[in-house]
Amino acid sequence: MSVYLVTGGAGFIGSHLVEALLKRGDQVRVVDNFSTGKRGNLPAGVDVVEGDLADDGVAVRAVVGCDYVLHQAAIPSVPRSVKDPLGTHRANVDGTMQLLVASRDAGVKRLVFAGSSSTYGNSAVLPKREDMRPAPITPYALQKYIGEQYCHFFTSLYGLETVTTRYFNVFGPRQAPDSPYSGVISLFIKALLAGQSPLIHGDGRQTRDFTYVANVVDGVLRAATAEGVSGEVINVATGGRISLLELVRAIQLILGSNKAPAFDGAREGDVKDSQADIFKARKMLGYDPTVPFEDGLRQTVAWFKTLSV
Ligand code: UD1
Repeated sequence: MSVYLVTGGAGFIGSHLVEALLKRGDQVRVVDNFSTGKRGNLPAGVDVVEGDLADDGVAVRAVVGCDYVLHQAAIPSVPRSVKDPLGTHRANVDGTMQLLVASRDAGVKRLVFAGSSSTYGNSAVLPKREDMRPAPITPYALQKYIGEQYCHFFTSLYGLETVTTRYFNVFGPRQAPDSPYSGVISLFIKALLAGQSPLIHGDGRQTRDFTYVANVVDGVLRAATAEGVSGEVINVATGGRISLLELVRAIQLILGSNKAPAFDGAREGDVKDSQADIFKARKMLGYDPTVPFEDGLRQTVAWFKTLSV
């Protein structure tokens, strides 16, 4: 049994990690400022440090006695970062730096950082491989890239083991559709369940490698303990891609809905196409995205239905 700190553990991805760790018998602590995370996402009795990682002292308190740190806390939105570069920088960069220093000083065995596919930017080359040159085009993408670079430095300069898992458009139960900055799948399901048109930004031909959250949990837990991966950046994704038009169709089919989408202008800072090469994750982590996109989508829709009954 090991002690894991999950930052952002009350959030969407963090809470799935907490659940998986408790299920296999590990000890878990969560640090969260509950800005987007929800207390209801946490299992009863879990050890919680409430606070903002960017504030002095919070990370120090959170890491005491922890073997592994899974750093999920972030303000995870491209458009929100365009609107609020300062606030998102504080959460995504200052919070990460505080946590890295605290983890180094506390002798943490390894920190796994939640990176982002947005770091690849808008180059036309697909699929995205980890050795491609990062080309962030928004504050969020740059903030996530800074985070992974700092992780790299903390490994090379101070010997703190770190791994960056680059996520590709994660979706699943507990992804809250409660803000215009929410993930697109949660917003589309919410709209169609309410009999409304999902709103597509742009022509809907942009593509994403949508990744079901259970696959991400598997990749992150492997990254925490795999041998020979310290200092690495590894894509965690499905390895496919579908357009938003196809996504709407897939949700409509599950729901038996014919409600047509509505369209508005393309979003500033939007990447056209995104698809991961997952060879490195397969090779270094033994990772395999065992839940296919369609199955994950069905499970996600089923979860949203339980909310609206
Ligand atoms: C980006 C990152 C992803 C990261 C996420 C954090 C890329 C390729 N992906 O996702 O790795 O985890 O930020 O939030 O950079 N859209 C609509 N209607 C809506 C909402 C969104 O059409 O109501 C469109 C967006 O314009 C975009 C796509 O759906 O083209 C996906 O948007 P979103 O779910 O916000 O994620 P990304 O910005 O792609």
